[in-house]
Amino acid sequence: MSTPHLATDSKAFRHALGRFPTGVTILTTQLPGQPPIGLTVSSFNSVSLDPPLIVWSLSKKSSARDAFQHCERYVVQVLAADQMKLANHFAKGTQSERFEGLNLISTPNGAVRLDAQCAAWFECVNTHIHEEGDHLVFIGAVEHCADTEALPLIYHAGGYDLTPKNQS
Ligand SMILES: Cc1cc2nc3c(=O)[nH]c(=O)nc-3n(C[C@H](O)[C@H](O)[C@H](O)COP(=O)(O)O)c2cc1C
Repeated sequence: MSTPHLATDSKAFRHALGRFPTGVTILTTQLPGQPPIGLTVSSFNSVSLDPPLIVWSLSKKSSARDAFQHCERYVVQVLAADQMKLANHFAKGTQSERFEGLNLISTPNGAVRLDAQCAAWFECVNTHIHEEGDHLVFIGAVEHCADTEALPLIYHAGGYDLTPKNQS
């Protein structure tokens, strides 16, 4: 059996958390009259079916913090297995660099999403934000969603396991 570590050892805590595989999403939003904002997020999960609720968390240090704290709606885009480049792209650079050359589409109630073949997307009302440690925990009330048959991108142990390595 592996050696126990104090969870206050951030490296050990991150390493152990990395053993939990997740999907990968891109969150997008836009404040009125402002440019779009987005980032890659793996902390997305479902909360409730009735009413339909989802959860995700955002680092308090994120460049996207102000927009997500104040927006009315946002969109969660679940990435497909062939979208590893997009996942890395939305995790670095400036906000304007992330959206350079990308088309955006409006969701039924006026949020913005990427014009890309994602595995699924969820249009959410920004209902609750909880401050927890170094992150903000967002609860979103889903208004519309759509999905495809595309296989999802999987994040595990700091990498994209189950994904062909030739996407770089
Ligand atoms: C696979 C993956 C998952 C990530 N998940 C999260 C997450 O759940 N929450 C978060 O705040 N940042 C997450 N990040 C980091 C952000 O995408 C981004 O790199 C970081 O917040 C710095 O950019 P920003 O200041 O624009 O937010 C993740 C990055 C990657 C590559």
